[in-house]
Amino acid sequence: MSTGTPYDVHSIRQRFPILNRKVKGKDLIYFDNAATAQKPVEVIDALTQYYSYYNANIHRGLHTLADEATAAFEATREAVKEFIGAAHSEEIIFTKGTTESINLIAAAWGEACLSAGDEIILSSLEHHANIVPWQMVAQKKGATIRVIPMNDQGEMDMAGFHALLNDKTKMVAVVHASNALGIIQPVEEIIRSAHQHGAVVLIDGAQSSVHLDINVREMDCDFYVFSGHKVYGPTGTGVLYGKKHILNSMSPFLGGGEMIKEVSFEQTTYNELPFKFEAGTPNIADVIALRSALAFITELGKSAIRMHEDVLLKYATAQLQKIEGVQIIGEVENKVPVVSFVAAGAHPQDLAYLLDNNGIAVRTGHHCAQPLMKRLGIVGTTRVSFGAYNTQEEVDVFITALEKSLKMLR
Ligand code: ALA
Repeated sequence: MSTGTPYDVHSIRQRFPILNRKVKGKDLIYFDNAATAQKPVEVIDALTQYYSYYNANIHRGLHTLADEATAAFEATREAVKEFIGAAHSEEIIFTKGTTESINLIAAAWGEACLSAGDEIILSSLEHHANIVPWQMVAQKKGATIRVIPMNDQGEMDMAGFHALLNDKTKMVAVVHASNALGIIQPVEEIIRSAHQHGAVVLIDGAQSSVHLDINVREMDCDFYVFSGHKVYGPTGTGVLYGKKHILNSMSPFLGGGEMIKEVSFEQTTYNELPFKFEAGTPNIADVIALRSALAFITELGKSAIRMHEDVLLKYATAQLQKIEGVQIIGEVENKVPVVSFVAAGAHPQDLAYLLDNNGIAVRTGHHCAQPLMKRLGIVGTTRVSFGAYNTQEEVDVFITALEKSLKMLR
């Protein structure tokens, strides 16, 4: 929900202490938001508050601190439920990030639901975190991985996807917005078609959760996963949303405290959702602080942030297009604020080094998407990605520094 006040990026920047720092004597320009977002002061304060006033283990304690910590932890679960439009808070499982969420699903759902000859559909654009866990379980269960092709712009080829679907398809696990290129993929159509074949669908929301309005009930995905640190929250927090009946059909991932009802050496009975999947002491402080990050996004309003970021995306794209020898990879309309490019005569790593000398943080390389890079016939890109606090002036400084760096390298 937006407050209705105009988007004031300069006052938003005041809430991010790190943006005051210098790098190599220059004002920091942070354009690596797709890797991790910076944290507003309320997230940092929530961590200090927890450790200063009510640090305690949760769920089991019968004392004031434990009650307060439990209430704050569970309040984040409610906030996440609202943030992604889930029906029930017990459908929200806390993990340490997107990677762990996908590993949990691949192992626990795969163990319960995959058999030899079954097929898992991924896409050419997946992050390694949505490839390797499926390879591991496919190998164990004798299942086969099939890959949705893409066009040269980085969009999934939907005719190719439909051709892969068949009665052996048990899982379709695809990215919502590509981390390497930023392109938003047609997940609604994927979900609808996969369900017509009785397959379960996992959406990797690592890059979409912070930018797009997410309603898992409207999307009708079976699983949706994302990382807290990319939505302005702490590192070491992740979310696994799963439909209740599917989570109930899965075996636990990790065994230990919290996830049990009763243990004897003969037999153990498991706890209810969500605790069945949250063995051991969780990341209490960071999960509590994640609520402040979600509140920050909700206060500004996702659509207001998106409008601001979209202006930056379009402006940066137009400026980059003017530079000789720069080629944007994945030039389509429907993107989150990520621009990936290659520049003739300049290795991405050299560019990153020179940009860092100007205080500008960008990401370079294969972005943990080697099959995608191979498909595109490149070794990597330079990627700039924007967040709620970036400005057009920063883009101008970046473009000038880039032009200067390219002259030095060529
Ligand atoms: N997956 C993160 C990225 O794309 C780290 O940068």
